[in-house]
Amino acid sequence: MPADALAPPLNWPDGLSAERFLRDYWQKQPLLLRGALPGFESPLGADELAGLACDPDVESRLVRESGDPPWQVQQGPFAEDQLTGLPGHGWSLLVQDVDKHLPELAVIADRFGFVPSWRFDDLMVSFAPPGGSVGAHVDAYDVFLLQGAGQRTWSIGPQPERPLCHPEAQLRVIDNFAPEEQWTLFPGDALYLPPGVAHHGVAGENCITWSVGFRAPSHQQLVAAAGLPATRPPSDDALYADPDLRLEEAAPGLISPRAIDRANAIVARHCGGKAPPSMHWFGELVTQPKHWLRAGPGEVAGGPQELEAALKGGDLLVRHGMTRLARSADGQLLFVDGDTFAVAEAQAGLVTLVCTNRELDARALAPWLGQPEVMELVHTLVCRGALCLGSLENGPAASI
Ligand code: SIN
Ligand code: CO
Repeated sequence: MPADALAPPLNWPDGLSAERFLRDYWQKQPLLLRGALPGFESPLGADELAGLACDPDVESRLVRESGDPPWQVQQGPFAEDQLTGLPGHGWSLLVQDVDKHLPELAVIADRFGFVPSWRFDDLMVSFAPPGGSVGAHVDAYDVFLLQGAGQRTWSIGPQPERPLCHPEAQLRVIDNFAPEEQWTLFPGDALYLPPGVAHHGVAGENCITWSVGFRAPSHQQLVAAAGLPATRPPSDDALYADPDLRLEEAAPGLISPRAIDRANAIVARHCGGKAPPSMHWFGELVTQPKHWLRAGPGEVAGGPQELEAALKGGDLLVRHGMTRLARSADGQLLFVDGDTFAVAEAQAGLVTLVCTNRELDARALAPWLGQPEVMELVHTLVCRGALCLGSLENGPAASI
């Protein structure tokens, strides 16, 4: 993809568009998107996934359906022979945060850029042999289940009022799942599920599924981050919700004023009508990475001028795969992995550019090279490890 191009949009079914999806389906009802990514073939195969699951830095799980108790879950990392010795049926291997460990694959998530980037959580990839599944369950977050290889039959139904879960099982698999609809998905098809829909996906043949997962702060996290005393403590499971989301809120990196209003309304409800005066706390909360997935400090040998020379000389400016970035609508604040940076007027364009593109070359950066204030900010972000020199293909260059 060229450095300044946005990911191509999904292939929407007839009569649907991103605007209509947000209006009629987002956080409201499931939707089958046949051929959402035409020609999509999982860039990871079963062996590569197994390799990731053996890596101690990668979060992975093996779910087995048979045994006593049923639905056993084993957390990775796995030894190679644990995975090669598995039977030909009845299990699933799931790997989280593939977009962080293999940042060149994060472009798959960019295809879902009609949802604000701060709402994105991770790409989880699963492999299952025929008949494999993780059981019927309910998730608290929105997800697009994108078929990458083989086929999987998804059944969905309402969340049971009193979910019955097998008492000894290590997974909250719903025994009283009552499916109402069923579809078989083939590569390139996707199924959107809002939170709270019970679902069960069974592999028809060797099957790879990509889950494009979103996250939303809990009311408890919002109140704690806002730093106001709670007069009515929030319940454990209440989450920020945006069924009224509009497409213009999804500009890359943007935290929209409507998102701030929603968050402030939640805080006010729990804190005696008071809403916090600034938005720093919200940007810091939603860009907080998982603590084991944080970009380490960058190795920078020179100052802003040396950095500029390296970029002019052909190095790319690459966003670190683990970095979460967001910006305020007025352009004055940049949030990086839970911290706030004040943005000067001269730097605002560069901030939008790095929030929009995972990789920038000298041509895209041309208007900014030679501007000391801008190069100062770029240097700060490179020192922090949020931006690196190099390319997505070759990994970051060692240092400048
Ligand atoms: C899977 O990929 O097997 C499970 C995904 C899900 O149900 O959320
Ligand atoms: Co699920």
